[in-house]
Formats: sequence, C-alpha cells, structure tokens
Amino acid sequence: MKILVTGNMGYIGPCVIQRLRTSYPDVTLVGLDTGYFANCLTNAEILPECRVDQQHFVDIRQIPKDLLDGVDAVVHLAGISNDPMGNTFEEVTLDINYRASIELAKKGKQKGVRSFVFASSCSMYGSADESPRDEKSPLNPLTAYAKSKVYTERDLENLADEKFKVTSLRFSTACGMSERLRLDLVLNDFVAGAVTSQKITILSDGTPWRPLINIHDMARAIDWAIARDISNGGPFVAVNVGSDVWNYQVKDLAHAVAEVIPGVEVSINKDAQPDKRSYRVNFGLFRKLVPDYQPQVDLITTIRDLKEGLEAMKFADENFRNSRFMRLKVLNDLRSKGFLNDNLEWVNTH
Ligand SMILES: NC(=O)c1ccc[n+]([C@@H]2O[C@H](COP(=O)([O-])OP(=O)(O)OC[C@H]3O[C@@H](n4cnc5c(N)ncnc54)[C@H](O)[C@@H]3O)[C@@H](O)[C@H]2O)c1
Repeated sequence: MKILVTGNMGYIGPCVIQRLRTSYPDVTLVGLDTGYFANCLTNAEILPECRVDQQHFVDIRQIPKDLLDGVDAVVHLAGISNDPMGNTFEEVTLDINYRASIELAKKGKQKGVRSFVFASSCSMYGSADESPRDEKSPLNPLTAYAKSKVYTERDLENLADEKFKVTSLRFSTACGMSERLRLDLVLNDFVAGAVTSQKITILSDGTPWRPLINIHDMARAIDWAIARDISNGGPFVAVNVGSDVWNYQVKDLAHAVAEVIPGVEVSINKDAQPDKRSYRVNFGLFRKLVPDYQPQVDLITTIRDLKEGLEAMKFADENFRNSRFMRLKVLNDLRSKGFLNDNLEWVNTH
C-alpha cells in the first residue's frame, strides 16, 4: 500500500506521519510539500521527513501526474491554512486550496486512488452562535479560507463514487505541540503568552465560541478515514471532527491556561468589535460513524504539553505574534526577500 500525504511539512503533518508510520508500518509513505515552513522546526529530534519513504518538494498547482502512480490513498493537508493568510492572498488561496485540490483529486481518481481524505474545517459554519451546527446546517463561510473549503467539498462530493471514496474531515481549530509548531492558533497563542510574559491578551471580547481539537486526535481521525469502509457513510462523507466537550468560549480557554500556569494575568479587550467567526459544533455524526477513534487528549494535558514544549525550546519571545511561528509572517518575509513571487511560487534565486 502507498499513502501520499500532501502538506506533510506543516504543523499537523509531522504528527500525522508519525501516526501513520505506527499504524501502517509496512506502507510506502510519500510526502509532498512545497516547503514554505520547512525551516520552522521546533524541538524535532530528527527532521520529521526522515519518517517518510519519499519526500517530494512539489507545488500542488504543478503536480506531475506520475507522482500518483500506485498511490492507494491521499491525505490532503496542503493548503493556505488560515484566515489571515487567506485574506492577504485571496486569489492564491482559492487557487491552491480549491482549484489545485480538485485537480489533485481528479488525477488521483484517474490513477486509481481509492481513498481521498480532505482536511476541511468547521470554520465553514462562520457565524453560528445560537445552536451547535451539524453537517446539515447551512454553511456560512465568512473568509476566502472558509470559502475555499466549501467549494472543495462541493466538488469532491461530485467526484466521489464506489471506487473513489472521499472523506472530508471538518476539523475543529487545532492545538497542541508539534515538531513545526504554529502560534497563530488560539490556544497555542495563549500558552505562548503565558510562558513568555505571564500575560494572555485576548484580542476579542472573549465571547466567541471555538471548537478545538488536539493534533494527535486529528491524526487519529485521518487514520480512520483512510481505511473507512464505504458502507460506513457512503462514497462521500463530510463530518465534523472534534468533541462536544471541546466547544469552548475563547475566554474559557484563557482561564484554563491561567489555571495551569500560575501567576498569569488575562486581559480581555472589552471594547473589541464582536468577532463574527463564532460557532459551536455538534459532533454527533462523528461519534456515530467513528466510535473507536474519538478524541482522547484533554485540554489540560494539551496546555501542559505546549508549556513543556515551549520551555524545552527555551522560548522567551514576548513578541511571538511577530515571529516565525506565525504562518503569515513567514510568507510575508519570504516574499519581501524575493524568495516567493506574488503567486507564492518559489523564485529561482541562483
Ligand atoms: N490548524 C488548524 O486549526 C486546522 C483546522 C482545520 C483544518 N486545517 C487544515 O489542515 C491542513 C493542514 O493545516 P496545518 O495547520 O498543518 O497548516 P500549515 O500551514 O502548518 O501546513 C500546510 C502545509 O501545506 C503546504 N503547502 C501550502 N501550499 C502548498 C502548495 N501550493 N503546494 C504544496 N504544499 C503546499 C505548506 O508548505 C505547509 O507545509 C490545512 O489544509 C488546513 O486548512 C487546519
């Protein structure tokens, strides 16, 4: 068996590769990534890519067809991965996240890929304060990033059939320690603030709802999706991935961090405009389809892991919101130094 994991050199990727290496010791694991954040390593004992059998430095917008030869399953993580980047590079986000993703799926289907797992996002529910959203709820994507996920899911559904199984995992917001940590995610940001300056600054009024999931639990869900039996949900499944108890208001996350890390001061911006991106999510379908792969890591463990990880790095950058652990900052730097062009393609620099 051969599994291709795109976007394996990001935040979630290394954790997914470790999981798959363990659950499928004999498969050929192939990584594909353009490497935007390749040098943003954190505490990795080895280069995470040493765990794959082949690593391709390829842009998914220019994927050679033969790269899919003999591939049985694709785990598609590659993409512009948050709203700030999506807002800055709107058209590019649609190109990479939507158009190139669909091309990849089409090529994969032609080449006989049987299982396609897509990293979708609960952010497609947008503003939905009233009641937890389930998979039948109306979608309300507020940003280019969220729209790219909606369009991709829609077209993937049309491609899915008995021979080409598609599982779209609508992930909650990720958190947890990784070999390529991101600090532009809400819980990771709070822990970094607590560790570096004993302060958590909530940029909103703290009321938005945000479902969270630890990256290890995301990897578990991906593991399930690769081998999902087609009778369990049909050729196409879009499912919210997370757990009902991990629907938090942002201010509660901050207070949880302050409980684990004593002496931390939490400041809420009471004058902030309400953050429209607020949604609670219902994970009933995920429980029904996947009883054996439910999230296991709890919030306090995640906060402790992050704290220990940052301390092991001797991380002390109070100005971390302007550091290389912010994905948008890295892309902007690569552009301003002339390494990437406006379309976020590598420029030949020699
Ligand atoms: N982190 C979250 O909270 C979260 C939540 C829901 C869904 N997701 C989705 O999961 C996936 C992975 O997220 P992440 O947090 O690891 O993001 P990340 O930004 O850390 O990693 C994304 C990877 O994709 C690669 N990539 C981007 N454009 C590419 C291209 N054109 N060709 C090849 N590679 C390209 C990048 O180099 C990077 O290594 C994304 O699709 C994201 O939208 C993430």
